Amino acid sequence: MKFVSLLCATVAAGCLMAATAATAQEPIVIKFSHVVAPETPKGKGAEKFKQLAEQRTAGKVKVEVYPNSQLYKDKEELEALQLGAVQMLAPSLAKFGPLGAKEFEIFDLPYIFPCKTALVKVTTGPIGKQLFQKLENKGITGLAYWDNGFKIMSANKPLHATADFKGLKMRIQSSKVLDAQMRALGALPQVMAFSEVYQALQTGVVDGTENPPSNMYTQKMHEVQSHATLSDHGYLGYAVIVNKKFWDGLPADVRTQLDGAMKEATEYANNIAQEENDKALEAMKAAGKTKFYELTKDERASWRQAMLPVHEDMASRVGKELLASIKTETDAAKCE
Ligand code: LMR
Repeated sequence: MKFVSLLCATVAAGCLMAATAATAQEPIVIKFSHVVAPETPKGKGAEKFKQLAEQRTAGKVKVEVYPNSQLYKDKEELEALQLGAVQMLAPSLAKFGPLGAKEFEIFDLPYIFPCKTALVKVTTGPIGKQLFQKLENKGITGLAYWDNGFKIMSANKPLHATADFKGLKMRIQSSKVLDAQMRALGALPQVMAFSEVYQALQTGVVDGTENPPSNMYTQKMHEVQSHATLSDHGYLGYAVIVNKKFWDGLPADVRTQLDGAMKEATEYANNIAQEENDKALEAMKAAGKTKFYELTKDERASWRQAMLPVHEDMASRVGKELLASIKTETDAAKCE
């Protein structure tokens, strides 16, 4: 202030410029980092949030979206969030274990959600809130749950009977539940960052993997996987999270506007998820590189039988009470 008035006294024209510079507000920057392609449900959701957030705050907030692990890979992005190097992420629910929030791995249990309605009851109800509370003492605030979809299994050979998995090296996310799931099938799970999967499949470092069609297609995994089975055996979704200190430190009016933008972006992302996956599956079928297989009724039953024991084996890891309350919700859900 003293400096500005001194300048005013000496240089009349420069005074105006100096005063403007001293009062002009730099926008608040939110770096939103993620690991998937922009044209996925998560990628599109992030862009929608950017658009709404910048509009609602009338430019007070600038959102920079960094897709495709451009800034950080899976594990690093969580560390970067805690350190404040980025402000917002949307990691899959399968990636919270290494952070010490192993309860999130409950979403990875095979066949835990009989349909999306059952899932929505969990994420939008008290269980979803309770899970977010577990992040607070890690310096993280949970804002929303975003959908991707149910996963399919892919490999460099047909996967019809569960015996087909025997000895296959299958890439998984960093979840002990997914590790148990692959072992239940007789496969050898290998944890690997998402950004490395395409090359690992191409070079034979791993034989196969699991993902919803939107991720498989946008990473071109169908070019390096000869077979895929439409198993829908497990779910993949996200928690949109922010650095708690950053979020709590925002002016209250800005935070309210951002909350509104997030609510709308969430509706958008969750509405497009199924369609994006359907479109990706069609595109991969049309590309003709991967053979897609529908399980017979009996095969489907034997996949379930092989994987369901994982619920009990992993109950103490994900929390017995939590598991029981999820089952109560899903049993009551009206699936078509
Ligand atoms: C994966 O690593 O397979 C997925 O979690 C990637 C993602 O964020 O959808």
